[in-house]
Amino acid sequence: MAAWMVAGNWKMNNTTAEAVALAKEIVAGLPDIAGRGEVVLAPSFTVLGSVHDVIRGSNIALASQNIFFEDKGAYTGEISPAMLKDAGCTYAIIGHSERRKYFHETDEGVNLKTKKCLAVGLKPIVCVGETDEEREAGITEFVVGIQVKKALAGITDMADVTIAYEPVWAIGTGKNATPGQAEEVHGFIRNILRDLYKEASLNVRILYGGSVTAENFGELIAMKNINGALVGGASLKSGSFLGIISRALENGQ
Ligand code: 13P
Repeated sequence: MAAWMVAGNWKMNNTTAEAVALAKEIVAGLPDIAGRGEVVLAPSFTVLGSVHDVIRGSNIALASQNIFFEDKGAYTGEISPAMLKDAGCTYAIIGHSERRKYFHETDEGVNLKTKKCLAVGLKPIVCVGETDEEREAGITEFVVGIQVKKALAGITDMADVTIAYEPVWAIGTGKNATPGQAEEVHGFIRNILRDLYKEASLNVRILYGGSVTAENFGELIAMKNINGALVGGASLKSGSFLGIISRALENGQ
C-alpha cells in the first residue's frame, strides 16, 4: 500500500505575504515524515513560485489546483502543465467539484487533463464525489463509478495517479462523511481500480476530502482504503493542518 498523503487545497485564498507566512509555519512545524507519508500544498497560481521557495529542501511537495490540457498557444487565461512544472509543481489537482460546478468541467475534460499531466510528468490528484441530491437518491456509486471510469479512460499506468473522494455535500459544510460512509465509497473505488488494474490497484492512494479536521481525521485515516486527505478550510491554519498530519503519522498505514 502506498504511503499516506495529506494535501492542503488553499483554494482562492492567500496573498503572497499570507501564503509565504503560512508555508513557513507549516515547514517550521512539520514533524519527520520521511518514509512515512507525503505532505502537499496547493496554493493559487500567483503564489506557486513564492511557496516553492519556502518549501524547498523540506519534505513538502507543491501542487497546482488545476491545469489546462494544451501545451501552449492562444488560450488566454490558461496555464499549461509545463508551466506548472516550471513553477515547481509535482502534483496537480484535477476535476475538483468546484471546477465542475462553477466552470462546467466535464468527465471528458478531466480525462484529458489527467492524461496530459501524466504525459508531461505531473502527478494528477483526480477528484470525484456525489452531490447531496445524488446521495439522497441512492445513486452515489453510480455517479462516482462513472466519474472514476471516465477520468481514467485510456490510462494504463496508475503509479503516479492519486484519487480524491470528496462528497460535495461534505465540502466546506462542516458535515464530514463518517468513517464508515467514506470507507464504503473508498472500497467501491478500490474495487473499480482492481477490475481495471489488478494488483497495481492496491498501490493507488485514495484520499478523502470534505470538512477534514485534526479532530475527525484520526478515525478516517485508520480505515483500510482511506490513504490520506485533501483538506480545504483546515489547511489554511498551520495548527489545524499540522494536527491532521499528526493524525496521519499516528494512525495512517
Ligand atoms: P473543506 O475541507 O473546506 O471541506 O474542503 C475540502 C476540499 O474541497 C478540498 O479539496
